[in-house]
Amino acid sequence: MISGRGSNMAALIAAAADPAYPVEIVLVISNRPGAAGLTLASEAGVPVRVIDHRGFQGDRAAHEAAIDAALREAAVEIVCLAGYMRLLTPLLVDAWQGHMLNIHPSLLPAFPGLDTHARALAAGAKLHGCTVHLVTQAMDEGPILAQAAVPVLRGDSAGELAARVLAQEHVIYPLALRLFASGDFGKMAPGAAALVNPLPAGSPLP
Ligand code: GRF
Repeated sequence: MISGRGSNMAALIAAAADPAYPVEIVLVISNRPGAAGLTLASEAGVPVRVIDHRGFQGDRAAHEAAIDAALREAAVEIVCLAGYMRLLTPLLVDAWQGHMLNIHPSLLPAFPGLDTHARALAAGAKLHGCTVHLVTQAMDEGPILAQAAVPVLRGDSAGELAARVLAQEHVIYPLALRLFASGDFGKMAPGAAALVNPLPAGSPLP
C-alpha cells in the first residue's frame, strides 16, 4: 500500500522478481491517484488499484472496508505499508494484525511520526536509521523485524540524511519481508535482523 513515490514498493517488486524470493507481489493499492509509485508498479507488470480516500467523504471505515475487500479479492496474505500516508483505524489493523508490515524512517522507538530526519538532526543524534515492524494499533509501534543504522555526518541536511536512510530502507524491507514470509524470524538470533552500516568511504568523521 502506497501513497506516493513508491521507492520501497519498487525495492520489494525488484526483490520478488527473483524466483527464489518467497513472495509474489500481487497488488499495489494507492489512496492517491497521482502516486508516482503506481506508474512504477504498472511498468513492472503488477496490478494496481486506486482507492481514493477523497471519494469516501471522510468515512474512514468505508474507505478501509474497500481496501480490505480489494486485498481479499487478490488473495493477499501479507500487507506491506510502503509510504502509505494515512493513519489506519482498528478496522484494517485488527483484520490484518500479524500480517501487516510497515517501514518507518527512524530507529524506533525513537522518532515515531513525521519529519524524522529533521528531528534526528535537531536532537543531535549520532545514529539514525530505519525500522521494519509489524503494525499494531499504536502508530509506529509493534514488534520490530529489522533495523538498519546509518551515521549522522557533520553538516548533514535533512535531505542528505534521508537519502542515506532511504538506501538502507531498500535493503531491509526486502530482507524483512523475505524472512517474515519464510517464517524464519523465530529461528534467528535476536541481533541478526540488525544491519549497522559503516561510515561511507572518505566521509569526515562525525
Ligand atoms: C519512506 O521513507 C518510508 O520509510 C516512509 O515513507 C517513505 C516512503 O518513501 N514510511 P517511498 O514512497 O517508499 O519512496
